[in-house]
Amino acid sequence: MRMLMPTQSDTGLRYEVTFPSATAAKDQDAEFCDIVIDDETRRIRFHDYDEIYSIPGLYEQLFYYELKCQSPTVVCNRLEAAGADFDTLRVLDLGAGNGMVSERLQEMGADTLVGADIVEEAAMAAERDRPEVYDEYVVDDISAPDPENRDILESHDFNCMVSVAALGFGDVPPEVFAAAYAYVKEGGWVAFSIKDEFLTDGDGSGFARMIARAIDSGALELVDRHVYQHRLSAGGDALHYASVIARKRAELRP
Ligand SMILES: C[S@@+](CC[C@H](N)C(=O)[O-])C[C@H]1O[C@@H](n2cnc3c(N)ncnc32)[C@H](O)[C@@H]1O
Repeated sequence: MRMLMPTQSDTGLRYEVTFPSATAAKDQDAEFCDIVIDDETRRIRFHDYDEIYSIPGLYEQLFYYELKCQSPTVVCNRLEAAGADFDTLRVLDLGAGNGMVSERLQEMGADTLVGADIVEEAAMAAERDRPEVYDEYVVDDISAPDPENRDILESHDFNCMVSVAALGFGDVPPEVFAAAYAYVKEGGWVAFSIKDEFLTDGDGSGFARMIARAIDSGALELVDRHVYQHRLSAGGDALHYASVIARKRAELRP
């Protein structure tokens, strides 16, 4: 067991968290930890986003402080290095969560930031913890949004979409990614991170097929692909993701 003791607020550690031993750690889509809140131990699956976002600071502590997630920094820096002009970026942040990625994009000078997530608690946490970051935040199924949410998405004339650590694993499926991408104008930037294996053959998620076909057909112009350590697993192993930076040239077919 890797054990973290009760915490001081000035360290960014607020909760007593216990991760499973390496052998007990599950697959990435079933990862969990135990957390003590008000003298009660709760088991939290990493995919129980509603629960995690509802506990202030827990998402940041788990994924960024304990498990050393680097994805927002890596993807945003690669987007900048690829030549995106941040002052003019109108960004759709798909699977936005509580705003970690858009906070970084805002620091880098992005013009407009619109979050989109399927979980209501994500929008509530973004408003609670980063109220100055998003211009708007849509909670919906982006492949079939309510008319008023569709109007919001259409109104921003996006020239960039980012999706960090939100693709596959029961999160954003290919058809939702393609639907969100449709709100980006041609020539716009597309920046995402995804488990490296999901972009190789036989991943089963459908992303490999969709992205490979889009690159082959020219719908997606690949600018940069970079494999990096996304974070540690609950069991302490390095998890590798690919950061992909591309330009939209035509629609995607999931
Ligand atoms: C690991 S979190 C990443 C959050 C944020 N991008 C970050 O890097 O901190 C994955 C997010 O994807 C969201 N998500 C999952 N399925 C989704 C879907 N179909 N449409 C939109 N968001 C989805 C989850 O609710 C969660 O907030």
